[in-house]
Amino acid sequence: MSVMPADPHRPVAHLRPPRNWINDPNGLAFHDGHYHVCFQYNPYGPEHANMHWGHFRSPDLISWEELPVALTPTPGGEDADGCFSGNAVSDGDRMVAFYSAFRTDRWAQPVTTAESRDNGVTWTPRGSLLIPELPEGATMYRDPYVWREAGRWRMLVGSAQADGRAAALLYESGDLERWEYRGPFLDRAPQPVAPGADTGPGWECPQYLHADGRGALLLGAWDPELGPRRTVVYPGREQDGRFLPDAPALLDHGPDFYAPALLPAPDGRWLLWGWSWEARDAACVREAGWAGLLTLPREVTLAEDGSVRQRPAAELLALRDERALTAAGETAGTAELGTVRSSFDLTARLEPRAAGTAGGLRLVTSADGAEYLDISIDAAAGELVVDRDHASLDPRAHGGTYRLPCPEARAASGAPVELRLVVDRSVAELYLPSGRTLTLRFYPTGDTPWRIEARAGDEGRLGYAVGAWNLRPYAMRYATDAGAESTPTDAGLARH
Ligand code: FRU
Repeated sequence: MSVMPADPHRPVAHLRPPRNWINDPNGLAFHDGHYHVCFQYNPYGPEHANMHWGHFRSPDLISWEELPVALTPTPGGEDADGCFSGNAVSDGDRMVAFYSAFRTDRWAQPVTTAESRDNGVTWTPRGSLLIPELPEGATMYRDPYVWREAGRWRMLVGSAQADGRAAALLYESGDLERWEYRGPFLDRAPQPVAPGADTGPGWECPQYLHADGRGALLLGAWDPELGPRRTVVYPGREQDGRFLPDAPALLDHGPDFYAPALLPAPDGRWLLWGWSWEARDAACVREAGWAGLLTLPREVTLAEDGSVRQRPAAELLALRDERALTAAGETAGTAELGTVRSSFDLTARLEPRAAGTAGGLRLVTSADGAEYLDISIDAAAGELVVDRDHASLDPRAHGGTYRLPCPEARAASGAPVELRLVVDRSVAELYLPSGRTLTLRFYPTGDTPWRIEARAGDEGRLGYAVGAWNLRPYAMRYATDAGAESTPTDAGLARH
């Protein structure tokens, strides 16, 4: 068997198959003692086409197994051009997947199903549509989300309406077979969520998190011209089949996060995976032969103030390998804190003693210091600023600066800035204690080890306490040899 050179950008602790295109997480369900994570998958190339559902499962979120492709388009069938997104439920000894049947029409995809009686190893498509008729006025329609609540099954479908409103449409059923349309759970004309960003004229991949009489609708803001834009969340509560929303917000403040999906875990937690797309040119993607990854599994909770909080699933602490660095002190310039490998988990407590731009952390990924990712504190705005303009010496990688609201960053707050940063080769996930997150992709070209620096702002001082652990790869069993050939082997990391 030929061994392919390791790809330094392919993650080791984020789910994706060895090659080709993936997008949305799909079919998330806990069944037969396993977390099942399917995803939009093109088995033939690194571009969005031929959508199948790939499939992983895990008993513990740490050791994973790739199962055979779950859903494949049926030639001549209702899903002949793609098995688009949806979810799955565990119903006794069977799993039922609900998905969007794509045939010819790009935007309106009726709902169909497939069923597995062997714990997700093989799936039988129903061969016909479950909900053939679209409600009047739907110009875009797809991505069923099914859940069980108060003795019945419920389903949301994402939609754009002819009147310019986006909608999440509600259906109900007693048996998963006969579905009654109950009308829009929520519909809204585009509403602002951040400077220059709104909730969009269409919603894809609706997800509904609910606990103790309150809820949150997670929605992919979609535009007919521009496609997927961002993920927004409406907190609120339900009253008789209608969702009464509070003001919407961004679910993630980074540029590379979309179509998150929920998995209600058996212990009562809500887990979430998102899709992180590429931030590099198509030529780069063709060279790499793969595109897209799933974020870390995140625990999602509803805070008292209605906000949705995310943090990495507790299980991921088990991926921490040896401690790479421990550093505490104060600097008036730049302090070198130590080195990490290309997949690491870092926690930091920063105390700026300057107004304005108050310094922060720098991840230096080239020996000469020319390539780096900056996370700096904007004490005037009360935000963290993530700057990837210098994060790759490859001009085909995208740049940009992104802002994450962080009230502790305000000069007057008197509170330290605390953060957790998980980097896995070409993806960075930044988590704040408030539950806010920022996900972005970046493509360092420099060899490991990489350096972590603390940098004070102009004429100021920065106090810091930073710890980092190198990450172990997921224990992963691929379904085919293809996985073995291209499993990354970073800096002597053993293959599991
Ligand atoms: C979201 C999405 C879904 C659709 C799927 C197709 O990223 O556009 O609405 O079902 O991807 O791959």
